[in-house]
Amino acid sequence: MHDFYADTKSLPTKAMLDSILLAPLGDEQKGEDPTTAQLEARVAELLGKEAAVFMISGTMCNEIAVRVHCNPGDEVICDASCHLLNYECGSPAALSGVVLHPLHGKNGIFSAEDVRSALRPASRYMPVSKMLLVEQTSNLGGGAIWPLETIDAVAKTAKAAGLVTHMDGARLMNAVVKTGISAARYARDFDSVWIDFSKGLGAPCGAVLAGSAEFCEHAWRQKQALGGAMRQSGVLAAPCLYALDHHLEQLILDNTLAASIGERLEDIPGIERVLPVDSNIVIFDVTEDSPPAAEIVDLLKNEDVLLGAFGERRLRAVTCLNVDEASGEKLVHALGKILGK
Ligand SMILES: Cc1ncc(COP(=O)(O)O)c(C=O)c1O
Repeated sequence: MHDFYADTKSLPTKAMLDSILLAPLGDEQKGEDPTTAQLEARVAELLGKEAAVFMISGTMCNEIAVRVHCNPGDEVICDASCHLLNYECGSPAALSGVVLHPLHGKNGIFSAEDVRSALRPASRYMPVSKMLLVEQTSNLGGGAIWPLETIDAVAKTAKAAGLVTHMDGARLMNAVVKTGISAARYARDFDSVWIDFSKGLGAPCGAVLAGSAEFCEHAWRQKQALGGAMRQSGVLAAPCLYALDHHLEQLILDNTLAASIGERLEDIPGIERVLPVDSNIVIFDVTEDSPPAAEIVDLLKNEDVLLGAFGERRLRAVTCLNVDEASGEKLVHALGKILGK
């Protein structure tokens, strides 16, 4: 199968799995797992923050950040397309009593003016504008990379209004390898930020949430409270360290492959629109007279190609180490066959 469904399906390589065997281990809850501590220190430095906490998933990073930063009745300003709003089971409300205030940016990216108009005045009646969320890159925005000036501008507006800032950096490293702008620079004005290891970086699971030492103290308490504290977590942290050492180059290949797929999809008549391809995600819409997206997914399966349907006419292809140029060729060819070219 040529699997473009998601980079979350990236499989650990043998060398990555081998790294587990050599990892020194200890009890993470007691702060005694050296491999986890090493990973946290490395990611804190990478993201330009004082400290970091290893989590089992990116979802846990987002939810814990919301719990630490906000009180019940507070509001998070975010894009309508973000993961926090669409794919986390309503947990900001369920776990933290927090409301989300969605903005309708372009491909997941909104402006400082959008933030300004979403800010609530001090009022006895309204939720309290408390946190700004930026998703770099924007998943449902087609992997769009937030330009640095826009990130700086929205963060500045939020900070000036007394909000805390949080970055969902699930694919931040895809942006870093594309633009050459460091992760720490992107995250400079953010109180908390995390990166995911289970996507393009290819580890089986794990994400690291970074911020001030005080923020991380609180995040640790929440991790413990939610049952996310581990024991010999070095077996999970070792593949993440391996990914930092060996898989950043892979993200460059992923971004390049996605760009070339996006270009070729533009030429298929049954495809109406391809969102700009900034990183490793290609989102495209098919024309009214094409089969619906779900049917295209089924037809592609017969051609040994896996893709995701996102709405009636919208499809998404994601590149990662599971696929290469030959897979890209197969995908474009199969889509051309199904959609009339
Ligand atoms: C932008 C974004 N944020 C958060 C997550 C959640 O990450 P995890 O699957 O590690 O919980 C995802 C997962 O796909 C994502 O795409």
